Amino acid sequence: MKGSLRAVFLTGAGVSAESGVPTFRGEGGLWRNFRPEELATPGAFKKDPWLVWQWYDWRRKILSGVRPNAGHRALSEIEKEKGAEGCTLITQNVDGLHQGAGSTNVLELHGSIWRLRCVLCAAAAENREVGLEEIPRCACGGLLRPAVVWFGEQLPEEVITAAVEAAGKADFMMVIGTSGVVQPAASLAVRAKENGAYVVEVNTEATPLTSIMDVTLQGRAGDILPLLL
Ligand code: OAD
Repeated sequence: MKGSLRAVFLTGAGVSAESGVPTFRGEGGLWRNFRPEELATPGAFKKDPWLVWQWYDWRRKILSGVRPNAGHRALSEIEKEKGAEGCTLITQNVDGLHQGAGSTNVLELHGSIWRLRCVLCAAAAENREVGLEEIPRCACGGLLRPAVVWFGEQLPEEVITAAVEAAGKADFMMVIGTSGVVQPAASLAVRAKENGAYVVEVNTEATPLTSIMDVTLQGRAGDILPLLL
């Protein structure tokens, strides 16, 4: 992992599972128990913003009590060793745990659950309050929403542009704890592979991306990633 090789790490909910954060699919996954169209779409927020907020407030409460795990910490150590320039972490997670572990070069493809954005004036700010009693409002009077990407929404332009560029230039890409079914995140691994990167998957199960991998490491991110150090 040393030297001038450009490394990209693409992470999903599995990297936070060992911190106690529920994943989306699979046993106990959020989408097994909740309907995304009722909670994670612009239409859902328009129809019932308080219901959507109660769900996000519940998730924020869980997240406020968890800590980065050995997998997050290993990725942060690798960035320190290699230097942030040559080491890009692209995450689909909105939980902020990579930054909590010390990673700095992080592209949050799906936004952050800790940032709120006004639906009227688009002003955005960090906010870590939990236990909401009403829908938070912007100084302009507009409703605030979590600054995450909902189904049917575009990814933040500058973030996806940077992620596509990093994937295209990668010499090495490691895909960690993602089911690889959500686009465009999953296509970043394909892009890296097509551009000559050595691609490695870390997952407890096989995924639709497994077949393009040079190496598959089956197991938990928190057990496998520290071995890279
Ligand atoms: P998923 O819940 O779809 O997939 C989690 C993956 O992590 C699965 O492939 C598991 O096998 C694997 N896994 C579970 N525990 C693990 C562990 N300890 N170590 C390694 N792997 C483990 O989560 P994502 O792929 O992140 O999007 O889901 C992608 C997107 O779908 C999310 O960002 C979210 C969701 O809808 C939005 O909300 C826009």
